[in-house]
Amino acid sequence: MSLLKLLNKKLPRCLFTTPAHSQKAPFLSNLSSFYNWDYSEIEGYDNLLNPTGAILMAEGKASDIYDTKKTFFLTQGSTTGILAIMKTVLGFNDKVLVARNCHKSIFSGLVITGASVDWFMPDTMSELCKNWGIMGKIDPEELRDIFKLNQYKAFIMTSPTYEGINSDIEAISNVCRQYGVLLIVDEAHGALYNFSDYFPRTAIQQGADFSVNSLHKNAGGLNQCALLHVSKNTNFDWREIQNFINLFHTSSPSYPLIANIEANINFLSSSKGQKTIDDLISNISKFQKILKNEGFEFLDEKYTDLTKIMLKLNGADCLKLSDVLFDKYGIEDEIASHFSCLYLTGIGTTKTKLDRLKAALIDVKNKKFNEILSNEVKTPVFQPYPLLKLQPWEAFNRDYVYVEKKDSLLMLSSDMIVPYPPGIGVLYPGEAIQAEHLEFLSDDAGVIKL
Ligand SMILES: Cc1ncc(COP(=O)(O)O)c(C=O)c1O
Repeated sequence: MSLLKLLNKKLPRCLFTTPAHSQKAPFLSNLSSFYNWDYSEIEGYDNLLNPTGAILMAEGKASDIYDTKKTFFLTQGSTTGILAIMKTVLGFNDKVLVARNCHKSIFSGLVITGASVDWFMPDTMSELCKNWGIMGKIDPEELRDIFKLNQYKAFIMTSPTYEGINSDIEAISNVCRQYGVLLIVDEAHGALYNFSDYFPRTAIQQGADFSVNSLHKNAGGLNQCALLHVSKNTNFDWREIQNFINLFHTSSPSYPLIANIEANINFLSSSKGQKTIDDLISNISKFQKILKNEGFEFLDEKYTDLTKIMLKLNGADCLKLSDVLFDKYGIEDEIASHFSCLYLTGIGTTKTKLDRLKAALIDVKNKKFNEILSNEVKTPVFQPYPLLKLQPWEAFNRDYVYVEKKDSLLMLSSDMIVPYPPGIGVLYPGEAIQAEHLEFLSDDAGVIKL
């Protein structure tokens, strides 16, 4: 019987087990449905960390839907998936190439595995990057040039990126395969890609060996619901990967979250789910058309998919536009810079919500708020190429002191500087502090004792 059916049945048993709240909310009655399903690994309810019954069945069904060798359910986000994949693939001192616009969890994976990283800078030079202030695609030919000179165990990249940029994973996976490099794609933001022909094919369909999806980002899942996918093309035994998941995963995974993952996948693959995605795409397409006529510009669909609404208005400073939308219209974006505002949509973004954003944007434009005007020409500043002096694992094992920021230039940082959002590091332990980093540091900078 599926886990969802099990949880929906009234349990004819008297539990003297954890959690000892007896499935009743002792406080916060708003959460009583959540409590109803909050069991531990009681008889017949299977175990996420060693699945043999209902959860194994649900994961098996997911593997069929995603066309993978194995799809694991994760109740601690893509972060756990990334750590488990890295631990599966990378041993101590193994060389790995990582695209620098990665999420900080990949840095954690570097510390934990002791792998030796080289950083790869995605495009920062094209018109796309200059106009929108974001990092662009990964060029497969640039990778090929690097692979000709260095042997790596794996390449780790993000697609779609936090801002929605999709790279050509098929071309990248072909280059990786040619040079015997495993391809790991952080597809946390692409959790809808498997479910509509409108989207790019999934990383796994395009030849990646491993990927992760955060269902909670845009696919309708509760926070922390995520998936780890293993391609049919890999030789890895899924039990080995399960062991590494278990290394990082809580031993008390949440049953409501496991059920949420199962229901989320069922929904996305149902006709209702398909219609929800179709309606979302169609509504955003109409939204864009109207706003383009009003003078708003959108990041071109050849780089991204419509669900990441990245926009700008000619003559406006988008940081100020973002503030006005928040202060005067109560609309909060995912992230904004001088060059763009990003509004994330997904399952749950109704036409009414889009209409509210559309009306606010048109109103701001028509009222010609002076405070949004850009009074100086700005060019985006990207983080400099990292001067890596100590590998992450090594930097983490060193002693450190605090020095005044003004004295810290070219010293090795012991701090992780990771603005959130987007959770992408600008400076990691073991890297030399460069002039561009100073604005991110507090008065005292942590530096490694040499
Ligand atoms: C690109 C990217 N990868 C991975 C993660 C981590 O995902 P999760 O929050 O599901 O652990 C995030 C979260 O912000 C992300 O933006």
